[in-house]
Amino acid sequence: MTAVKLAIVGMGMIGKRHLQAMTTIKKAALIAVVDPAEQAKAIALNEGVQWFGKIEEMLADVVPEGVIVCTPTEIHLAPTISALEAGCHVLVEKPIAGNLEEAREIQLVAERVNRNVMVGHHRRYYGLMEEARKIVSSEKLGRLLAVHGQWTSRKADDYFIPQWRQQSSSGPVLINLIHEMDILRFICGEIESVTAQLQTNFRGHPKEETAAIIVRFKSGVLGTFLLSDATPSPWNWEHATGENVNFPHTGQNSYCFMGTDACLEFPNLRIWQSQGKPDWNHLMKMEETPVPLEDAYIAQCRHFCGVIRGEEMPRITAEDASKTLAATLAVFDSAKQRQTILL
Ligand SMILES: NC(=O)c1ccc[n+]([C@@H]2O[C@H](COP(=O)([O-])OP(=O)(O)OC[C@H]3O[C@@H](n4cnc5c(N)ncnc54)[C@H](O)[C@@H]3O)[C@@H](O)[C@H]2O)c1
Repeated sequence: MTAVKLAIVGMGMIGKRHLQAMTTIKKAALIAVVDPAEQAKAIALNEGVQWFGKIEEMLADVVPEGVIVCTPTEIHLAPTISALEAGCHVLVEKPIAGNLEEAREIQLVAERVNRNVMVGHHRRYYGLMEEARKIVSSEKLGRLLAVHGQWTSRKADDYFIPQWRQQSSSGPVLINLIHEMDILRFICGEIESVTAQLQTNFRGHPKEETAAIIVRFKSGVLGTFLLSDATPSPWNWEHATGENVNFPHTGQNSYCFMGTDACLEFPNLRIWQSQGKPDWNHLMKMEETPVPLEDAYIAQCRHFCGVIRGEEMPRITAEDASKTLAATLAVFDSAKQRQTILL
């Protein structure tokens, strides 16, 4: 079988990560890079593939089977729609778009042209996510009552050199919390309401820096989440898992799922359980379930190829990712309106 012909639109930080993953997959073949930047042209040359400054130029010349959209968030809509209208399947980076209207437009166009849109919530491809969902929905923790999560880290100064990263469309809510909302939905089920407060006072950028969030799930489970991109800490997904070599591994946890009988630390998958009755008079014992961390980008790209070939159903559809986006955007609405937002 011939390899699936793919193009990457936007060859910046995450575009390169997709390229790295793609080169390890036999059933995937990069055929073009679209990005006006000189460094993207150099990458295309190095990979021996065609380079285009605009997606329209590529589509007039060659139509890949799949397009991976890795442009800044506010530029997800246009290339995604152009690719779909040309008959390509699309894997668009998270968040699916900067707002729900654009997300809806992507979903509607995909349905009309009968093409798949997958969204790059790559963490869902880790086995430890499946394991956490399994533990939480089993009887091991008893009845789930509450969850606490945290993403706190200080981004390096040069991260903010591209102007778009200083805007609220690219602050830690839409760049980082969106992953966490997706984890929360995946493991605890749909979110009913969000209440939040935001703070912006360290770097002087228009975007937010710190957020304190209360989440209520449809199941009645309550959650809290603390987010900040202005404080160095080991308590965030990247440092906890070591998924990215640029963020040195700490092995700490960034979530606690609290049940009536036991609780689970995550992503280390440590279950704390009392020996005897589950009350405060009994000694607690910890049991760890080691799950190796695969390369989620390789799994995601392999899955994208499978979806394109009609062998697999998309795991993270536009509709699914739009729910994650709605819960994430509710943080802004709640902070602005100073009230709880019902989803
Ligand atoms: N899944 C993840 O964990 C993850 C991680 C980082 C970023 N992202 C997402 O990926 C997207 C890009 O982030 P990044 O950090 O790689 O950004 P970046 O600034 O490093 O790269 C963006 C690239 O897009 C190019 N570009 C801009 N406009 C374009 C256009 N119209 N056509 C083609 N190329 C264009 C730029 O020249 C640049 O090379 C964002 O939506 C972000 O949320 C996801």
